[in-house]
Amino acid sequence: MSSIDYSEKIPNNVNLSEDRTLQRALEHWQPNYLQWWQDMGPDGSQNFDVYLRTAVSVDPQGWAQFGHVKMPDYRWGIFLNPAEQERKIHFGDHMGEAAWQDVPGEHRANLRRIIVTQGDTEPASVEQQRHLGLTAPSQYDLRNLFQVNVEEGRHLWAMVYLLHKYFGKDGREEAEALLERNSGNADNPRILQAFNEKTPDWLSFFMFTYFTDRDGKFQLCALAESAFDPLARTTKFMLTEEAHHMFVGESGVGRVITRSCEMMNQLKTDDVGKLRAAGVIDLPTIQRYINFHFSVTIDLFGADQSSNAATFYSSGLKGRYEEGKRTDDHVLKGNSYKILAVENGGLVEKEVPMLNALNEVLRDDYIKDSVGGVDRWNRLIEKAGIDFRLKVPHKAFHRNIGSLAGVKVSPDGRVVSDHEWNQRVEEWLPSDTDRAYVGSLMGRVVEPGKFANWIAPPVMGINRQPVNFEYVRFN
Ligand SMILES: [Fe+2]
Ligand SMILES: [Fe+2]
Repeated sequence: MSSIDYSEKIPNNVNLSEDRTLQRALEHWQPNYLQWWQDMGPDGSQNFDVYLRTAVSVDPQGWAQFGHVKMPDYRWGIFLNPAEQERKIHFGDHMGEAAWQDVPGEHRANLRRIIVTQGDTEPASVEQQRHLGLTAPSQYDLRNLFQVNVEEGRHLWAMVYLLHKYFGKDGREEAEALLERNSGNADNPRILQAFNEKTPDWLSFFMFTYFTDRDGKFQLCALAESAFDPLARTTKFMLTEEAHHMFVGESGVGRVITRSCEMMNQLKTDDVGKLRAAGVIDLPTIQRYINFHFSVTIDLFGADQSSNAATFYSSGLKGRYEEGKRTDDHVLKGNSYKILAVENGGLVEKEVPMLNALNEVLRDDYIKDSVGGVDRWNRLIEKAGIDFRLKVPHKAFHRNIGSLAGVKVSPDGRVVSDHEWNQRVEEWLPSDTDRAYVGSLMGRVVEPGKFANWIAPPVMGINRQPVNFEYVRFN
Protein backbone atom coordinates (compact mmCIF):
# COMPACT_ATOMS: atom_id res chain seq x y z
CA MET A 1 0.00 0.00 0.00
CA SER A 2 2.62 2.53 1.00
CA SER A 3 5.04 2.00 -1.87
CA ILE A 4 4.62 4.36 -4.77
CA ASP A 5 4.12 3.19 -8.32
CA TYR A 6 6.49 5.25 -10.47
CA SER A 7 5.84 3.30 -13.67
CA GLU A 8 2.65 5.28 -14.13
CA LYS A 9 2.25 8.72 -15.62
CA ILE A 10 1.06 9.93 -12.22
CA PRO A 11 3.05 8.31 -9.39
CA ASN A 12 0.66 7.29 -6.64
CA ASN A 13 -0.03 4.95 -3.77
CA VAL A 14 -3.81 4.98 -4.19
CA ASN A 15 -4.15 2.30 -6.90
CA LEU A 16 -5.05 4.96 -9.41
CA SER A 17 -4.96 2.50 -12.33
CA GLU A 18 -7.98 0.71 -10.86
CA ASP A 19 -10.15 3.78 -11.35
CA ARG A 20 -9.87 4.53 -15.06
CA THR A 21 -12.25 7.49 -15.03
CA LEU A 22 -10.37 9.22 -12.26
CA GLN A 23 -7.02 8.38 -13.83
CA ARG A 24 -8.13 9.88 -17.15
CA ALA A 25 -9.45 13.01 -15.45
CA LEU A 26 -6.18 13.55 -13.61
CA GLU A 27 -4.11 12.80 -16.73
CA HIS A 28 -6.15 15.49 -18.41
CA TRP A 29 -5.35 17.96 -15.61
CA GLN A 30 -1.63 17.04 -15.58
CA PRO A 31 -0.59 18.93 -18.78
CA ASN A 32 -2.44 22.01 -17.53
CA TYR A 33 -0.50 21.76 -14.31
CA LEU A 34 2.80 21.48 -16.20
CA GLN A 35 1.84 24.46 -18.33
CA TRP A 36 1.13 26.42 -15.14
CA TRP A 37 4.56 25.36 -13.79
CA GLN A 38 6.20 26.64 -17.00
CA ASP A 39 4.32 29.94 -16.88
CA MET A 40 4.14 30.66 -13.15
CA GLY A 41 6.74 28.38 -11.53
CA PRO A 42 10.39 29.27 -10.77
CA ASP A 43 11.59 31.80 -13.30
CA GLY A 44 14.28 30.80 -15.80
CA SER A 45 15.10 27.51 -14.09
CA GLN A 46 13.37 24.86 -16.15
CA ASN A 47 16.62 23.43 -17.45
CA PHE A 48 18.55 23.32 -14.16
CA ASP A 49 19.39 19.98 -12.57
CA VAL A 50 18.42 20.41 -8.94
CA TYR A 51 19.38 18.13 -6.07
CA LEU A 52 15.85 17.35 -4.90
CA ARG A 53 14.27 14.82 -2.64
CA THR A 54 11.39 12.84 -4.04
CA ALA A 55 9.03 10.62 -2.11
CA VAL A 56 9.53 6.94 -2.97
CA SER A 57 7.26 5.61 -0.26
CA VAL A 58 5.34 7.11 2.61
CA ASP A 59 7.09 4.96 5.23
CA PRO A 60 9.02 7.01 7.77
CA GLN A 61 12.32 5.49 6.56
CA GLY A 62 11.82 5.57 2.84
CA TRP A 63 9.95 8.57 1.67
CA ALA A 64 12.85 10.79 0.74
CA GLN A 65 15.21 9.93 -2.10
CA PHE A 66 17.73 12.50 -3.31
CA GLY A 67 19.04 13.10 -6.81
CA HIS A 68 19.52 15.77 -9.48
CA VAL A 69 16.27 16.37 -11.36
CA LYS A 70 15.03 19.00 -13.79
CA MET A 71 12.05 20.51 -12.02
CA PRO A 72 9.53 20.02 -14.84
CA ASP A 73 10.47 16.30 -14.66
CA TYR A 74 9.84 16.10 -10.91
CA ARG A 75 7.50 13.18 -10.21
CA TRP A 76 4.54 15.00 -8.72
CA GLY A 77 1.96 12.53 -7.60
CA ILE A 78 -0.58 11.37 -5.08
CA PHE A 79 0.63 10.03 -1.76
CA LEU A 80 -1.60 9.28 1.20
CA ASN A 81 -0.61 7.99 4.58
CA PRO A 82 -1.75 4.39 5.08
CA ALA A 83 -5.31 3.96 6.34
CA GLU A 84 -5.81 3.39 10.02
CA GLN A 85 -7.98 0.31 10.56
CA GLU A 86 -11.50 1.13 11.75
CA ARG A 87 -10.68 4.76 12.40
CA LYS A 88 -13.38 6.54 14.41
CA ILE A 89 -14.43 10.17 14.42
CA HIS A 90 -12.98 11.55 17.64
CA PHE A 91 -14.62 14.96 18.08
CA GLY A 92 -17.83 16.84 17.39
CA ASP A 93 -21.41 15.66 17.04
CA HIS A 94 -20.44 12.45 15.19
CA MET A 95 -17.90 11.35 17.77
CA GLY A 96 -17.59 7.58 17.99
CA GLU A 97 -19.00 6.92 14.51
CA ALA A 98 -16.82 5.42 11.78
CA ALA A 99 -14.68 7.93 9.86
CA TRP A 100 -16.11 8.76 6.43
CA GLN A 101 -14.56 7.15 3.39
CA ASP A 102 -16.79 9.30 1.19
CA VAL A 103 -18.22 12.80 1.47
CA PRO A 104 -21.58 12.99 3.24
CA GLY A 105 -24.02 15.02 1.13
CA GLU A 106 -24.78 17.53 3.87
CA HIS A 107 -21.08 18.41 4.33
CA ARG A 108 -20.15 18.47 0.69
CA ALA A 109 -20.18 22.25 0.21
CA ASN A 110 -18.17 22.96 3.37
CA LEU A 111 -15.60 20.24 2.68
CA ARG A 112 -15.13 21.45 -0.86
CA ARG A 113 -14.59 24.97 0.41
CA ILE A 114 -12.01 23.80 2.96
CA ILE A 115 -10.09 21.77 0.37
CA VAL A 116 -10.19 24.54 -2.25
CA THR A 117 -8.99 27.16 0.26
CA GLN A 118 -6.10 24.95 1.37
CA GLY A 119 -5.34 23.95 -2.24
CA ASP A 120 -5.25 27.58 -3.35
CA THR A 121 -2.41 28.49 -0.99
CA GLU A 122 -0.06 25.84 -2.44
CA PRO A 123 0.43 27.17 -6.00
CA ALA A 124 0.05 30.71 -4.64
CA SER A 125 3.31 30.47 -2.69
CA VAL A 126 5.13 29.10 -5.75
CA GLU A 127 3.91 32.15 -7.67
CA GLN A 128 4.92 34.50 -4.87
CA GLN A 129 8.44 33.03 -4.88
CA ARG A 130 8.95 32.64 -8.59
CA HIS A 131 11.53 35.42 -9.03
CA LEU A 132 13.66 34.56 -6.02
CA GLY A 133 15.84 32.09 -7.90
CA LEU A 134 17.32 35.02 -9.81
CA THR A 135 18.84 36.46 -6.62
CA ALA A 136 19.69 33.36 -4.57
CA PRO A 137 22.47 33.96 -2.02
CA SER A 138 23.97 30.52 -2.73
CA GLN A 139 23.42 27.21 -4.50
CA TYR A 140 22.43 25.67 -1.20
CA ASP A 141 19.67 28.24 -0.74
CA LEU A 142 18.59 28.01 -4.36
CA ARG A 143 18.15 24.28 -3.96
CA ASN A 144 16.10 24.76 -0.80
CA LEU A 145 13.85 27.28 -2.54
CA PHE A 146 13.23 24.84 -5.39
CA GLN A 147 12.60 21.97 -2.95
CA VAL A 148 9.93 24.04 -1.22
CA ASN A 149 8.45 25.00 -4.60
CA VAL A 150 8.14 21.45 -5.97
CA GLU A 151 6.61 20.28 -2.70
CA GLU A 152 4.05 23.07 -2.72
CA GLY A 153 3.28 21.89 -6.24
CA ARG A 154 2.75 18.40 -4.86
CA HIS A 155 0.49 19.75 -2.15
CA LEU A 156 -1.63 21.19 -4.93
CA TRP A 157 -1.76 17.68 -6.42
CA ALA A 158 -2.87 16.33 -3.05
CA MET A 159 -5.86 18.66 -2.93
CA VAL A 160 -6.68 18.22 -6.63
CA TYR A 161 -6.80 14.46 -6.16
CA LEU A 162 -9.47 14.88 -3.45
CA LEU A 163 -11.45 17.29 -5.62
CA HIS A 164 -11.37 14.95 -8.62
CA LYS A 165 -12.07 11.79 -6.71
CA TYR A 166 -14.82 12.96 -4.36
CA PHE A 167 -16.47 16.05 -5.86
CA GLY A 168 -17.38 15.09 -9.44
CA LYS A 169 -17.82 17.83 -11.99
CA ASP A 170 -17.68 20.60 -9.38
CA GLY A 171 -14.38 19.21 -8.18
CA ARG A 172 -12.90 19.13 -11.68
CA GLU A 173 -13.94 22.74 -12.22
CA GLU A 174 -12.39 23.77 -8.93
CA ALA A 175 -9.17 21.98 -9.92
CA GLU A 176 -9.01 24.01 -13.13
CA ALA A 177 -9.72 27.22 -11.23
CA LEU A 178 -6.76 26.50 -8.92
CA LEU A 179 -4.52 26.95 -11.96
CA GLU A 180 -6.37 30.04 -13.16
CA ARG A 181 -6.26 32.25 -10.09
CA ASN A 182 -2.83 33.84 -9.62
CA SER A 183 -1.12 35.48 -6.70
CA GLY A 184 -1.57 39.24 -6.85
CA ASN A 185 -3.66 39.12 -10.03
CA ALA A 186 -6.08 42.06 -9.85
CA ASP A 187 -8.82 40.25 -11.78
CA ASN A 188 -8.44 36.74 -10.42
CA PRO A 189 -6.41 36.75 -7.20
CA ARG A 190 -5.67 33.93 -4.78
CA ILE A 191 -8.32 33.42 -2.09
CA LEU A 192 -6.39 34.55 1.00
CA GLN A 193 -4.79 37.97 1.14
CA ALA A 194 -1.42 36.87 2.59
CA PHE A 195 -1.00 34.79 -0.57
CA ASN A 196 -1.41 37.82 -2.78
CA GLU A 197 1.44 39.72 -1.10
CA LYS A 198 4.81 39.84 -2.80
CA THR A 199 7.80 37.86 -1.55
CA PRO A 200 10.28 40.36 -2.95
CA ASP A 201 13.53 39.35 -1.27
CA TRP A 202 15.16 36.44 0.54
CA LEU A 203 14.62 37.83 4.02
CA SER A 204 10.90 37.87 3.18
CA PHE A 205 11.19 34.32 1.87
CA PHE A 206 12.79 33.05 5.08
CA MET A 207 10.17 34.89 7.15
CA PHE A 208 7.43 33.46 4.95
CA THR A 209 8.68 29.89 5.29
CA TYR A 210 9.13 30.31 9.03
CA PHE A 211 5.81 32.05 9.80
CA THR A 212 3.45 31.36 6.92
CA ASP A 213 4.40 27.75 6.19
CA ARG A 214 3.81 27.25 9.91
CA ASP A 215 0.26 28.47 9.40
CA GLY A 216 0.15 25.68 6.80
CA LYS A 217 1.32 23.23 9.43
CA PHE A 218 -1.46 24.22 11.83
CA GLN A 219 -4.16 24.15 9.17
CA LEU A 220 -2.95 20.74 8.01
CA CYS A 221 -2.80 19.45 11.59
CA ALA A 222 -6.42 20.53 12.10
CA LEU A 223 -7.44 18.82 8.84
CA ALA A 224 -5.44 15.69 9.74
CA GLU A 225 -8.06 15.19 12.49
CA SER A 226 -10.95 15.32 9.99
CA ALA A 227 -13.77 12.77 9.97
CA PHE A 228 -13.29 12.68 6.17
CA ASP A 229 -10.58 10.04 6.18
CA PRO A 230 -8.99 10.70 2.75
CA LEU A 231 -8.44 14.33 3.80
CA ALA A 232 -6.90 13.23 7.10
CA ARG A 233 -4.55 10.79 5.37
CA THR A 234 -3.42 13.16 2.65
CA THR A 235 -2.75 16.05 5.05
CA LYS A 236 -0.74 13.77 7.34
CA PHE A 237 1.65 13.06 4.50
CA MET A 238 1.80 16.76 3.53
CA LEU A 239 2.93 17.54 7.08
CA THR A 240 6.09 15.46 6.69
CA GLU A 241 7.06 17.76 3.79
CA GLU A 242 6.03 20.95 5.59
CA ALA A 243 8.64 20.42 8.32
CA HIS A 244 11.42 21.09 5.81
CA HIS A 245 9.85 24.38 4.73
CA MET A 246 9.86 25.68 8.29
CA PHE A 247 13.45 24.48 8.70
CA VAL A 248 14.42 26.56 5.65
CA GLY A 249 12.81 29.60 7.28
CA GLU A 250 14.20 29.14 10.76
CA SER A 251 17.73 28.34 9.66
CA GLY A 252 17.60 31.06 6.99
CA VAL A 253 16.67 33.83 9.43
CA GLY A 254 19.19 32.36 11.90
CA ARG A 255 22.00 32.61 9.35
CA VAL A 256 21.09 36.22 8.54
CA ILE A 257 21.25 37.00 12.27
CA THR A 258 24.55 35.16 12.68
CA ARG A 259 26.12 37.16 9.89
CA SER A 260 24.80 40.48 11.24
CA CYS A 261 26.13 39.68 14.73
CA GLU A 262 29.55 38.79 13.28
CA MET A 263 29.68 42.16 11.59
CA MET A 264 28.49 43.99 14.72
CA ASN A 265 31.31 42.40 16.66
CA GLN A 266 33.86 42.96 13.96
CA LEU A 267 33.01 46.66 13.63
CA LYS A 268 32.13 46.95 17.34
CA THR A 269 28.97 48.85 16.52
CA ASP A 270 25.20 48.61 16.46
CA ASP A 271 24.94 51.69 14.28
CA VAL A 272 22.42 50.89 11.54
CA GLY A 273 24.13 53.14 9.00
CA LYS A 274 27.53 51.54 9.53
CA LEU A 275 26.11 48.03 9.39
CA ARG A 276 24.24 48.79 6.20
CA ALA A 277 27.39 50.28 4.72
CA ALA A 278 29.03 46.95 5.55
CA GLY A 279 26.27 45.13 3.66
CA VAL A 280 24.49 43.23 6.43
CA ILE A 281 20.92 43.44 7.71
CA ASP A 282 20.63 45.28 11.03
CA LEU A 283 18.67 43.59 13.82
CA PRO A 284 15.95 46.30 14.07
CA THR A 285 15.11 45.67 10.42
CA ILE A 286 14.88 41.93 11.11
CA GLN A 287 12.51 42.78 13.99
CA ARG A 288 10.30 44.83 11.66
CA TYR A 289 10.17 41.95 9.16
CA ILE A 290 9.11 39.65 12.02
CA ASN A 291 6.39 42.14 13.00
CA PHE A 292 5.07 42.22 9.46
CA HIS A 293 5.12 38.49 8.69
CA PHE A 294 3.80 37.44 12.09
CA SER A 295 0.84 39.83 11.98
CA VAL A 296 -0.10 39.07 8.37
CA THR A 297 0.14 35.35 9.07
CA ILE A 298 -1.98 35.25 12.23
CA ASP A 299 -4.76 36.93 10.24
CA LEU A 300 -4.87 33.74 8.16
CA PHE A 301 -6.59 31.89 11.01
CA GLY A 302 -9.69 33.98 10.38
CA ALA A 303 -12.09 35.95 12.57
CA ASP A 304 -11.80 35.37 16.33
CA GLN A 305 -15.51 34.56 16.44
CA SER A 306 -16.82 32.48 13.61
CA SER A 307 -19.93 30.38 13.28
CA ASN A 308 -18.26 28.59 10.36
CA ALA A 309 -15.46 27.46 12.66
CA ALA A 310 -18.09 26.06 15.04
CA THR A 311 -19.88 24.25 12.22
CA PHE A 312 -16.63 22.81 10.82
CA TYR A 313 -15.75 21.45 14.25
CA SER A 314 -19.13 20.14 15.35
CA SER A 315 -19.72 18.41 12.04
CA GLY A 316 -16.28 16.76 12.24
CA LEU A 317 -14.69 18.45 9.22
CA LYS A 318 -11.81 20.18 11.02
CA GLY A 319 -10.46 19.44 14.49
CA ARG A 320 -8.17 21.34 16.79
CA TYR A 321 -4.38 21.10 16.77
CA GLU A 322 -3.54 17.77 18.44
CA GLU A 323 -7.21 17.03 19.08
CA GLY A 324 -6.38 13.48 20.11
CA LYS A 325 -4.04 14.60 22.89
CA ARG A 326 -6.61 16.85 24.59
CA THR A 327 -8.50 15.66 27.62
CA ASP A 328 -11.79 17.60 27.40
CA ASP A 329 -15.04 16.14 25.99
CA HIS A 330 -14.17 16.97 22.31
CA VAL A 331 -17.67 18.38 21.85
CA LEU A 332 -17.07 21.74 23.62
CA LYS A 333 -20.74 22.70 23.88
CA GLY A 334 -20.59 24.37 27.31
CA ASN A 335 -16.97 25.58 27.12
CA SER A 336 -15.82 29.16 26.81
CA TYR A 337 -12.65 30.83 25.58
CA LYS A 338 -11.08 34.26 26.00
CA ILE A 339 -10.70 36.53 23.02
CA LEU A 340 -9.47 40.13 22.84
CA ALA A 341 -11.66 43.12 22.19
CA VAL A 342 -11.29 46.89 22.43
CA GLU A 343 -13.30 48.71 25.08
CA ASN A 344 -12.93 52.32 26.22
CA GLY A 345 -9.72 52.69 24.29
CA GLY A 346 -8.01 49.62 25.78
CA LEU A 347 -7.70 45.90 25.10
CA VAL A 348 -9.89 43.67 27.25
CA GLU A 349 -10.44 39.91 27.41
CA LYS A 350 -13.93 38.66 26.66
CA GLU A 351 -15.31 35.18 27.35
CA VAL A 352 -17.16 33.71 24.40
CA PRO A 353 -18.42 30.20 23.58
CA MET A 354 -15.40 28.11 22.66
CA LEU A 355 -17.03 26.57 19.58
CA ASN A 356 -17.29 30.01 18.03
CA ALA A 357 -13.71 30.84 19.02
CA LEU A 358 -11.96 27.86 17.45
CA ASN A 359 -10.09 30.05 14.97
CA GLU A 360 -8.67 31.87 17.99
CA VAL A 361 -7.79 28.58 19.68
CA LEU A 362 -5.79 27.51 16.61
CA ARG A 363 -4.21 30.97 16.35
CA ASP A 364 -3.09 30.79 19.99
CA ASP A 365 -1.58 27.32 19.46
CA TYR A 366 0.24 28.71 16.44
CA ILE A 367 1.57 31.65 18.44
CA LYS A 368 3.00 29.34 21.12
CA ASP A 369 4.73 27.28 18.46
CA SER A 370 6.13 30.22 16.52
CA VAL A 371 7.69 31.81 19.60
CA GLY A 372 10.05 28.83 19.93
CA GLY A 373 12.10 29.70 16.88
CA VAL A 374 12.37 33.33 17.93
CA ASP A 375 13.87 32.13 21.23
CA ARG A 376 16.41 30.09 19.28
CA TRP A 377 17.28 33.17 17.17
CA ASN A 378 17.80 35.09 20.41
CA ARG A 379 20.24 32.45 21.60
CA LEU A 380 22.39 33.17 18.53
CA ILE A 381 22.41 36.87 19.43
CA GLU A 382 23.13 36.08 23.08
CA LYS A 383 25.98 33.76 22.14
CA ALA A 384 27.49 36.56 20.08
CA GLY A 385 27.44 38.66 23.25
CA ILE A 386 25.05 41.23 21.82
CA ASP A 387 22.48 42.97 23.96
CA PHE A 388 19.44 42.84 21.70
CA ARG A 389 16.44 40.51 21.72
CA LEU A 390 13.87 39.81 19.04
CA LYS A 391 10.24 39.17 19.93
CA VAL A 392 6.98 38.46 18.22
CA PRO A 393 4.64 41.44 18.41
CA HIS A 394 1.46 41.46 20.47
CA LYS A 395 -1.40 39.46 18.96
CA ALA A 396 -3.41 42.65 18.44
CA PHE A 397 -0.67 44.43 16.46
CA HIS A 398 -1.40 45.26 12.79
CA ARG A 399 -4.45 43.03 12.44
CA ASN A 400 -6.90 43.06 9.58
CA ILE A 401 -9.39 40.39 10.52
CA GLY A 402 -11.89 39.92 13.34
CA SER A 403 -12.61 42.27 16.22
CA LEU A 404 -9.06 43.67 16.19
CA ALA A 405 -9.20 44.61 12.51
CA GLY A 406 -7.94 48.10 11.96
CA VAL A 407 -7.40 48.86 15.65
CA LYS A 408 -4.11 50.69 16.10
CA VAL A 409 -2.02 48.71 18.58
CA SER A 410 1.72 48.98 19.20
CA PRO A 411 3.92 45.84 19.06
CA ASP A 412 3.94 45.81 22.89
CA GLY A 413 0.13 45.77 23.02
CA ARG A 414 -0.95 49.34 23.74
CA VAL A 415 -3.88 50.82 21.86
CA VAL A 416 -2.39 53.97 20.32
CA SER A 417 -3.76 57.06 18.62
CA ASP A 418 -3.67 57.44 14.86
CA HIS A 419 -1.12 60.16 15.48
CA GLU A 420 1.24 57.88 17.42
CA TRP A 421 0.76 55.10 14.90
CA ASN A 422 1.68 57.37 12.02
CA GLN A 423 4.66 58.74 13.93
CA ARG A 424 6.06 55.35 14.77
CA VAL A 425 4.92 52.96 12.08
CA GLU A 426 8.38 53.01 10.48
CA GLU A 427 9.84 51.78 13.76
CA TRP A 428 7.37 48.91 13.78
CA LEU A 429 6.91 47.74 10.20
CA PRO A 430 9.42 47.56 7.33
CA SER A 431 9.55 50.95 5.63
CA ASP A 432 10.09 51.50 1.94
CA THR A 433 13.67 52.38 2.83
CA ASP A 434 14.14 49.07 4.69
CA ARG A 435 12.73 47.10 1.81
CA ALA A 436 14.81 49.00 -0.72
CA TYR A 437 17.93 48.36 1.37
CA VAL A 438 17.25 44.63 1.74
CA GLY A 439 16.39 44.51 -1.96
CA SER A 440 19.71 46.17 -2.80
CA LEU A 441 21.59 43.29 -1.14
CA MET A 442 19.99 40.68 -3.34
CA GLY A 443 22.42 39.45 -5.97
CA ARG A 444 23.02 36.08 -7.49
CA VAL A 445 25.71 33.85 -6.02
CA VAL A 446 26.17 30.69 -8.05
CA GLU A 447 29.59 29.25 -7.22
CA PRO A 448 29.35 26.11 -5.04
CA GLY A 449 30.21 26.87 -1.41
CA LYS A 450 30.07 30.67 -1.86
CA PHE A 451 27.54 32.77 0.04
CA ALA A 452 26.29 36.33 -0.28
CA ASN A 453 27.85 38.72 2.22
CA TRP A 454 24.61 39.23 4.19
CA ILE A 455 24.11 35.59 5.18
CA ALA A 456 26.26 33.02 7.00
CA PRO A 457 26.77 29.53 5.51
CA PRO A 458 24.65 26.75 7.01
CA VAL A 459 26.16 24.45 9.63
CA MET A 460 25.49 21.40 7.47
CA GLY A 461 24.63 20.58 3.87
CA ILE A 462 21.55 18.77 2.61
CA ASN A 463 21.35 14.98 3.01
CA ARG A 464 24.86 14.91 4.54
CA GLN A 465 26.37 16.48 1.43
CA PRO A 466 29.08 19.09 2.01
CA VAL A 467 28.06 22.74 2.05
CA ASN A 468 30.04 23.30 -1.17
CA PHE A 469 28.27 20.46 -2.99
CA GLU A 470 26.94 21.26 -6.45
CA TYR A 471 23.28 21.48 -5.43
CA VAL A 472 22.26 23.03 -8.73
CA ARG A 473 23.75 22.39 -12.14
CA PHE A 474 22.88 25.36 -14.30
CA ASN A 475 23.59 23.67 -17.66
FE1 LIG B 1 2.08 23.33 1.32
FE1 LIG C 1 4.93 24.66 2.80
